[in-house]
Amino acid sequence: MKKEMPEMRKVEYGSQEYEEIMDLRNEYFRKPQGMDIRNEDNSIDEKSVMYGGYLDGKLMSCIFYLPKDVNTAQVKAVIVDEKYQGIGAGKYLMDFIEEKIKSEGFNHIILHGRTKVEGFYEKLGYKSYGEVDIYNTIPHIWMEKDI
Ligand SMILES: CC(C)(COP(=O)(O)OP(=O)(O)OC[C@H]1O[C@@H](n2cnc3c(N)ncnc32)[C@H](O)[C@@H]1OP(=O)(O)O)[C@@H](O)C(=O)NCCC(=O)NCCS
Repeated sequence: MKKEMPEMRKVEYGSQEYEEIMDLRNEYFRKPQGMDIRNEDNSIDEKSVMYGGYLDGKLMSCIFYLPKDVNTAQVKAVIVDEKYQGIGAGKYLMDFIEEKIKSEGFNHIILHGRTKVEGFYEKLGYKSYGEVDIYNTIPHIWMEKDI
């Protein structure tokens, strides 16, 4: 098992790299529910800042942020390929995106996380707020952190 961390590359909406990230999102967030992300309106991605994480040139993770207002950015599309989970890559992605968000002048992060990974975000300092809701059949919770 490789322990090195991915090379993070910014990805443009509509590019070949973006399509590979769509495949990754489909694999983890839609196919298990029998859904296809390409049947949805994904135009919000054009407003997002998107990164792929690559090992030996191969996509193994992704993470986005979406500016919400002058202070707040929403972290989205947090995925580490299961072959690389549990070795710190998820924390690496979150540290990376927090740094980017901070450098753009935001001071507050929100995310809509799956309740089954709430503990992952809690370890990184996120606090839950509001009620659990069902998004694409999966229980989710809103979380936030000041940076
Ligand atoms: C959630 C996810 C990004 C975590 O990535 P990862 O690379 O496995 O996480 P890391 O190895 O960086 O773990 C960092 C810490 O969080 C903990 N952690 C990881 N997953 C956790 C979980 N589901 N619940 C509680 N804690 C968790 C780890 O034990 C580790 O703790 P430590 O610092 O005390 O050792 C990854 O499991 C994933 O991509 N899952 C599938 C897609 C998904 O569900 N994404 C989130 C949608 S909201």
